[in-house]
Order: sequence, then structure tokens, then C-alpha cells
Amino acid sequence: MKRNSGEKIGKLAVVRTVADLRRHVAAWHRAGDTVALVPTMGALHAGHLALVTRGKELCDRAVVSIFVNPTQFGPNDDFTRYPRDEAGDAAKLVRSRCDLLYAPGVGEMYPAGFATTVTTGAIAERLDGHFRPGHFAGVATVVTKLLLQAQADVACFGEKDYQQLHVIHRCVCDLDIAIHIEGVPTVREPDGLAMSSRNAYLTPPQRAIAPALHRMLRSTAERLGRGETSVAAAMEAAIAELLRAGFSKIDYVETCDVQMLLPLDRVDRPGRILAAAWLGTTRLIDNVPVLPAG
Ligand code: PAF
Repeated sequence: MKRNSGEKIGKLAVVRTVADLRRHVAAWHRAGDTVALVPTMGALHAGHLALVTRGKELCDRAVVSIFVNPTQFGPNDDFTRYPRDEAGDAAKLVRSRCDLLYAPGVGEMYPAGFATTVTTGAIAERLDGHFRPGHFAGVATVVTKLLLQAQADVACFGEKDYQQLHVIHRCVCDLDIAIHIEGVPTVREPDGLAMSSRNAYLTPPQRAIAPALHRMLRSTAERLGRGETSVAAAMEAAIAELLRAGFSKIDYVETCDVQMLLPLDRVDRPGRILAAAWLGTTRLIDNVPVLPAG
């Protein structure tokens, strides 16, 4: 059997192969420690670090994976310009008490001859699934692989990617993957903008407009929660508000149920308002809960 590679970036232990990752996790399990996995694509911000913190609250050890997964990007998406900063990420992870960074290359994740993928169902077809064909199949495939590779007890994902969290829950349940999936609330900038690695693309004028997305979601949830408006009228007003604020294109603003993310025409049970909108070439997504009036 090969020994662990022993690579470090600063003070952080790094592994790049499934075999090395499994050796670390197996040793921790043998010692009686529980393990949390935090899958990311790097360019880490406070939202990712909150996932690590939650992982360490739930488990003794936290592994963060960084892999910019080519299969979840469409041909016109930002795969090549997606921000990458492994050394900067490692320094942040040391401060967050992460125990191990797993940073596989594309050849380790998708070796020659790779052919088997996860097919996602109805929950992945609407909303982002409609605007980003193939995206959730890429996410479900890589997340399934990461969960099986790491064999952790818990995996943490952010609620900012609310539909992704649902797709992953469905996938883990359908494929009998023995892991607890923990959803972690969105971390926001002081002005309300949801933290995202893609915020780095925004020009200063776009960055000034961006918080309007969360402002609109909050005020729409409040008005629906007070029963002041119908869902249809609220969605129309929300789109108009985003365009007035300076968003260039709106992919969707929808009020959905929290089980299957199907559209609600009345908020008669807890729901979620989800939105995706463009500022130039940058696509922002966000979501908030909405509760029935009274
Ligand atoms: O949310 C992300 O960063 C990615 O979609 C994930 C879950 C790491 C899969 O590549």
C-alpha cells in the first residue's frame, strides 16, 4: 500500500488522489472521529468558510474539496475564467480549522474511459435546469463521485444554491448514499448581496446594482407574507423592479414549494422565492423563504 503523499500548502495538508483522500478519512474513522466534507470549486469566501465551520460543529474533522468541475459548465459558461487561487484558498482554510484539502486534477476525477453519469429528474429540469441545460447532471455526477470518494459522514452545501441543494438531497436519497446532507444558510455582504465567487466578475457600477436582487426578494416575500398581493402580480412587479434597478436580463423570479420546487400560485404553505438575473455577462442567483400570511 502506498503512503500518504505528505504534500502541504502552508500549514494545510493537501491530497490530490482518491487513494490518499481515503487513507486520511479511514485513519480518522479508525480513531473514532467523524468527518465532514465541504465540496467547493475554490475561490473561497466567507460563505464557503461558514460551510467548514458548520462541518466542524457537526464532525471532528473537515475535508474541503476544490475542483472546478468542467462537466457542470455549458459551452458559453465561465469555466475558463472561473477564479482559481489555491494558495489563497489554503490560507483561508487553515484559519477555518479545515483538516485536509482534497484538490484532484481533471484526470483523477474523469480518467480516460470515464463514461458513467448521474441522470437528474424533474427537480433539476425547471429554474436553473431550464436555463443551464446539463448543469445539474454535471453537479450530481461530480457530487456523487466526491461523496463516494471521501466516504465522509456529513456533507455541507450552501442554501444560496437552493435548487442544487434539492438536487443533491434527491440524488443521495435515490442512490442510497449513506451520508447526511447539511444545508447551510446563505452568507451575505453587509448590503445583502449573497456571497458568491462570481461576485468578483462585477464591475464597480454592477456591484452597486447587485444588492437590488436580495432587496427585491425580501420585499416580495414580505408583501406575499402580509397577503398584500397575488403571487402572479408579485412576480411581475419583481421582474420590473430588477430591470429598473439596472439588471440587463432576468432568467426567472419564481415562488415555489419547498418540496419539489414547483410553482406556487398561492402562498398557502411555506415556500421559497428564487431568482436568477444578469448584470452584463455575470449571472447572479439568490433565494429567500416566504411564509403564508398570518
Ligand atoms: O456549489 C458548488 O460550488 C459546486 O456546484 C459543487 C457542489 C462543488 C459541485 O461542483
